[in-house]
Amino acid sequence: MSDRILIVDFGSQVTQLIARRVRESGVYCEVHPFNKTSVESIKSFDPKGVILSGGPASVTHHDTPRAPDGLFEMGLPIFGICYGQQTMCAQLGGAVETSDHHEFGRAELSVTEDCALFQDVWPPGERHIVWMSHGDRVARLPDGFQIVGTSDGAPYAAVADESRGFYAVQFHPEVVHTTHGADIIRNFTHRICGCAGDWTMAAFREHAIAEIRKQVGAGRVVCALSGGVDSSVAAVLLHEAVGDKLTCIFVDHGLLRQGEAEQVVALFRQHYNIPLVHRDASDLFLSALDGVEDPEKKRKIIGGLFIDVFDEEATKAGGADFLAQGTLYPDVIESVSFAGGPSVTIKSHHNVGGLPERMKMALVEPLRELFKDEVRALGHELGLPDSLIGRHPFPGPGLAIRIPGPVTREKADILRQADAIYLDEIRKAGLYDEIWQAFAVLLPVKTVGVMGDSRSYDYVCGLRAVTSTDGMTADSYPFEHAFLAQTATRIINQVRGVNRVVYDVTSKPPGTIEWE
Ligand code: XMP
Repeated sequence: MSDRILIVDFGSQVTQLIARRVRESGVYCEVHPFNKTSVESIKSFDPKGVILSGGPASVTHHDTPRAPDGLFEMGLPIFGICYGQQTMCAQLGGAVETSDHHEFGRAELSVTEDCALFQDVWPPGERHIVWMSHGDRVARLPDGFQIVGTSDGAPYAAVADESRGFYAVQFHPEVVHTTHGADIIRNFTHRICGCAGDWTMAAFREHAIAEIRKQVGAGRVVCALSGGVDSSVAAVLLHEAVGDKLTCIFVDHGLLRQGEAEQVVALFRQHYNIPLVHRDASDLFLSALDGVEDPEKKRKIIGGLFIDVFDEEATKAGGADFLAQGTLYPDVIESVSFAGGPSVTIKSHHNVGGLPERMKMALVEPLRELFKDEVRALGHELGLPDSLIGRHPFPGPGLAIRIPGPVTREKADILRQADAIYLDEIRKAGLYDEIWQAFAVLLPVKTVGVMGDSRSYDYVCGLRAVTSTDGMTADSYPFEHAFLAQTATRIINQVRGVNRVVYDVTSKPPGTIEWE
């Protein structure tokens, strides 16, 4: 087993970034919520070191989160970040105060002492840009600690008790704005905790295959293939593990992008030789969607039918003992919430969420330890084509939520053509990989135009392209006007049914990425 680091989460917005940085340094880690962590759970996880994350609460209030009792006596190296620093210092006998001097954003750290955390990265006497976000700050150090770096707003910006392997910083080394932040985290994992850094995708592949074989035994597995990165990587990995005991089921709802169904079938059946059921259910889906305008109703109809069809095909294929899902680590991490109460549903994204309940099969989730970029790296390792690995995300309900108003086959065909031209232009301009998601939308509006000598009365096509890191927030992509003009001309000339093209410049928030 590879060396592991445990991250105790106090609810910071950027805790996942700590995990990303640790994994990038070749060390396996997990994020556990502070209130589900105890000395026993830590012992059973068996980490080489522990990182305490930031968080929104104040250590100066007595009912706020703390590191688990006994953690500091376990003999493990510990690295506290922001709130993690404050609670660590408070729990070890120091003091924390609410300061008038809040620091948000960039700050300058003066390195005052040499220590293992800064070794070969930040020598004493240098000043470096770090990213701060705090109101409280440490006011008195616990016994055994010394200051190793200071900033204007945080005299105790970096502190250490090297004899116990305890390090704590007020700034956030996990965000990219902290220069060399990743090297600081690496110093903790490698130099201080002694991790070997052998968590690679080649190692993961072997480990995952062994785990799948152990779980599945002689059982049969079905996997819903969507053509996206996650389910494709999961399917290829599972096939390596259990061979033809895996059946992939591709439910084609008729609302995919141009050429997508053919690509999925060619790749899995011909290239990988994986048993694949391809069910063209477009008639069923389109007739169920007939006249439906409400976006949430569309999602529910598609999600429900998907489950019915998948279930039917799985039964026809002889049934199975396991259902494979491409669940990723961000879906597994339990979020730490202080505000309480359910958040408002903007869109019910989990459109196929009912599958496991309905089918009553055990789940196999071989990607549940991975972040998205690690799934892509695993895809490379498994030899999946770059065109699939780098593909923009595509929503489960497909083109149905890119056709505001009722969906018809005619509209889906028009949209598919316009979308293909748009993506082709983006690829030709070398912009595809810079963009998080780009797609066309067919508006339920007809406008007047003039084509040749005649009047036209056709649909409006909207173009959307956004940059984003996680789909939670997004900016409209700033295309050159000439690019948009050329794309619009090509769409209007080549797609019958469209005579006007508009570009969506809305960011998220207040817009969402999809139009429905
Ligand atoms: P929004 O439109 O909410 O989209 O800004 C954020 C990301 O989620 C995708 N999306 C969906 N994915 N089922 C999915 O599987 C859905 O119903 C759905 N709605 C939106 C969207 O494409 C973007 O990547």
